[in-house]
Amino acid sequence: MTFDPIDQKEILHKISKRGLSLGHPMTYVEQTGSTNVDAMAAAREGAAHGSLFIADQQTQGHGRMGRPWHSRKGQSLLFSIILRPCIPIDRLPAITLAIGLAIADAIAHFVDNDSVGIKWPNDVLIRSRKVAGILIEGALTKAHCDHIVAGIGINIAQVKFDPSIEAKATSLAKETTDVPKRSELLLVCLQCIERRLQQFALGGLSEMMDDLQARDITKGKQVRVGERMGVAEGIAEDGRLQVMIEGQRLSVLAGEVQVVL
Ligand code: BTN
Repeated sequence: MTFDPIDQKEILHKISKRGLSLGHPMTYVEQTGSTNVDAMAAAREGAAHGSLFIADQQTQGHGRMGRPWHSRKGQSLLFSIILRPCIPIDRLPAITLAIGLAIADAIAHFVDNDSVGIKWPNDVLIRSRKVAGILIEGALTKAHCDHIVAGIGINIAQVKFDPSIEAKATSLAKETTDVPKRSELLLVCLQCIERRLQQFALGGLSEMMDDLQARDITKGKQVRVGERMGVAEGIAEDGRLQVMIEGQRLSVLAGEVQVVL
């Protein structure tokens, strides 16, 4: 596939035409270490809610648990957004799910809707293979969250993956002949995130539980919590995963649990 450039002016024009509060100001670079690191630094300096950082390539892209996030130049959509949701920190796990659901919604615009799932807490899958990952990082005070950065990586054009992940990964190019341009996908993502954040502001996850449950592919799967194995029973309204272990129901946070697919 030839390089798919991003036309910053056109995107900003469409963002304003659609009245989106997310996506501007926009910082677009060919290469950076990590858009999340850039966004976190800018947020500490006071950058506004909605500020967007996007790159063609990252040299230090990372995911949850410090895992590396590899991508080839221009073949993925790599972006981070600063959010200042002003919520108590105990609601953070839930907002993470709202953003994950938004990215699943966005991807479902381009492939068969029923093939898109969420592996809790926020991997997005097509036919059980990972197409997108979301990394939420934040600066928290004791009780409140000053800002969070939602970093999103979506595989678009690559058709070959490292042998270690080949069986578990996919891209839009592998799933559809109608592969969107990066700018088009970005706009749909911004729109979907904005919609889910509006719902979240009104009633937390309660407004989107049905949609979340419909996309949850974790339910019924084996999970490891520390040394123990259990079975996932679904996502609760606070964003925690309900796990049944030896007849006991536990409510766990991301980081405490590993889903075995
Ligand atoms: C995961 O699957 O663990 C999350 C992956 C998140 C990757 C994105 S790419 C844009 C942003 N910058 C980063 O360094 N990470 C996120």
